[in-house]
Amino acid sequence: MDNKKNRDKNWLNLIVLIGGFIPLLLLGWSALQGNLGFNPVQTVMQRTGNLGMIFLILSLSCTPINKIFKLPAVGRLRKPLGLFAALYAFLHFAAFAIWDYQLNLGLIWNEIRTKPFIIFGAIALVILLILAATSFKSLQRKMGKTWVWLHRLVYVAGVLVVVHYLLSIKGDLFNLQGDFALPIIAMVIVSLLLMVRIPAFYQFLRHWFVKE
Ligand code: HEM
Repeated sequence: MDNKKNRDKNWLNLIVLIGGFIPLLLLGWSALQGNLGFNPVQTVMQRTGNLGMIFLILSLSCTPINKIFKLPAVGRLRKPLGLFAALYAFLHFAAFAIWDYQLNLGLIWNEIRTKPFIIFGAIALVILLILAATSFKSLQRKMGKTWVWLHRLVYVAGVLVVVHYLLSIKGDLFNLQGDFALPIIAMVIVSLLLMVRIPAFYQFLRHWFVKE
């Protein structure tokens, strides 16, 4: 039985590892082929930004899925998926600060002043990098309860990324003029994942899905 559990765990880890690197390889391949469109920086920023958000949402989903369906193997994917979120978020930032602005702090500051939504993304990035740096088992053991509290910041990162995405879209959010479909879907998913933390809502879902 334990062997089967270990095999399932290894398979899931392998799928996440391959699934995490494939988009990066595809992006690298498109870059080598010169296939990044007429604005390569924007293409890379949009792809890495979306990938960072998708991996973050997947990572946030692991604990609720484990709690509702009792699937500890899925629960353990939270860490590798979170590490991929941090990786793509960092590449997104690097495309902006290094590739586009060559680390010119004056220009970067000017851009932040005209696009304040960047601040939400920057705070989310700092959180994701801190969580990635403290994700090791040895640190988890050493930090105890502080680690648990620190890693709850992942929800704050999720909310900040959704706000960052919503505000980055050109258009009028209140009249829904613009490409708001994807950021709104992301907002609904992140809101649901936050709601699952409310015990009554979690009990309702568990009753609904598992008939417990
Ligand atoms: C210092 C950190 C960050 C900076 C400077 C930054 C900057 C930007 C900029 C300038 C855009 C607009 C791109 C465009 O459409 O031309 C953008 C969009 C976006 N960012 Fe960030 N961002 C940061 C952090 C993050 C993080 C941590 C995430 C997710 C984990 C993220 C996800 C996104 C997404 C999903 C979009 C929308 C992409 C699209 O339009 O398809 N960003 N960001």
